[in-house]
Amino acid sequence: VTPRSGADAALPLETDRLLLEMWREADWTQLRPIATDPRVMRYITGGRPWSDDEIRDFVRRQTAAYAEHGCCRWKLVYKQSQEMIGFCGIGRWKGGAEQEIGWWLSHDYWGRGLATEAARAALDDAFRQAGFSRIVSIAYRENAASIAIMRKLGLHYEANFESDDVELVRYAIAIEEYVARPGPLTNRPRLRS
Ligand SMILES: CC(C)(COP(=O)(O)OP(=O)(O)OC[C@H]1O[C@@H](n2cnc3c(N)ncnc32)[C@H](O)[C@@H]1OP(=O)(O)O)[C@@H](O)C(=O)NCCC(=O)NCCS
Repeated sequence: VTPRSGADAALPLETDRLLLEMWREADWTQLRPIATDPRVMRYITGGRPWSDDEIRDFVRRQTAAYAEHGCCRWKLVYKQSQEMIGFCGIGRWKGGAEQEIGWWLSHDYWGRGLATEAARAALDDAFRQAGFSRIVSIAYRENAASIAIMRKLGLHYEANFESDDVELVRYAIAIEEYVARPGPLTNRPRLRS
């Protein structure tokens, strides 16, 4: 895996059904219905909706991450309808050193394999383009759907731990494991606009 760099970094990623795009500041209003849905937030905040400030901060952090690494927790656009349906990608877990892959989808889009589809592209890009050597993924221990995605991506169980009184689980994958795992690597170039 040779990380790409330079001009390609500014281009969105594409899968069969999705575009993984950079955020614009105004996009935060499209994230609001998702980040205030208690079904989505169940295993994020225990169900508490994010405030407008939290949503705006999230979008700002993606701009900063993108400037630093050329990748972020990408905005997911459903190609067929051009609707923003959530996000997927890499961010620093709780602002620390670990690069974590995560995903949130609008409830209407659950159960169609979309998070896995997005995550495969985001993980591949994180290794190839951003050049990370290790990616973790962290979830509430009860979040079976999220843990199923981690396993499908080839992450291995690493540890159970507790943070802010919540029981969490951490999965991880190093670049050596990623290139060695069976099956073809996703190798979609970024879209040229
Ligand atoms: C987690 C989330 C992104 C999954 O999105 P999705 O597009 O439905 O996920 P996928 O269809 O790609 O894959 C989910 C997998 O989990 C499985 N799954 C779903 N619910 C499950 C459950 N309750 N128990 C066990 N497995 C479950 C699915 O069967 C699927 O696996 P499969 O392909 O082997 O059948 C979505 O539920 C969501 O946005 N949740 C709220 C936000 C969140 O919790 N994010 C993760 C924080 S760590």
